[in-house]
Amino acid sequence: MDEPTTSVSRRNFIKGVIAGGATASASGYLFRQNGVLAQRSAPGSVERLVTLNVNGQNRPVDIAHEETLAMTLRYKLGLTGTKLGCDRAECGACTVLVDGRTHYACSILTHMVRGREIKTVEGLEGPNGELHPVQQAVMDEAGFQCAFCAPGFIMSMVALVEDKPGFTRDEAAHALSGHICRCGDYNKILNSAMRAGEIARST
Ligand code: FES
Ligand code: FES
Repeated sequence: MDEPTTSVSRRNFIKGVIAGGATASASGYLFRQNGVLAQRSAPGSVERLVTLNVNGQNRPVDIAHEETLAMTLRYKLGLTGTKLGCDRAECGACTVLVDGRTHYACSILTHMVRGREIKTVEGLEGPNGELHPVQQAVMDEAGFQCAFCAPGFIMSMVALVEDKPGFTRDEAAHALSGHICRCGDYNKILNSAMRAGEIARST
């Protein structure tokens, strides 16, 4: 059955409003043209409002279908603790926890983590400001130099400590092998991991 002309016009109008809103909400990062920030929506894709569970909070956000979790966290939710190094699953700087397991946020699409618990480095502190054992350990051991790699390493240490606090140094090295530290500070980073295990076992 033919739709009345007014109904078609109204539908087209709503489509236009949605498309316009998508453009506005994406402009915070889509205008960046170079390097790892050059992600663009594919032609014809539109953004959709989804709700993500991030650090225990429900966060509504407009996302494009091909948008990575790292982009959403950094440029739409303002959680810049998650770093972008290589943007192609090589350096580990973007590591976050999804349902307690480590994931490279640059290599997982945001729409795939709907309904799952995402934890970033900003979510480690306790409700009264108490430090997570890994945060305390990194401070005790002064585990990083420039610390660009630190949030990623820290999230993998958190997964390790929470999974198996009695880990050995070799097991820590294996668990952290998906990370690159450009300052080459691996010995101090491993010292931090071992200290985190000690703190976790004593609390
Ligand atoms: S930025 Fe994701 S692994 Fe390097
Ligand atoms: S401390 Fe500088 S990249 Fe790791």
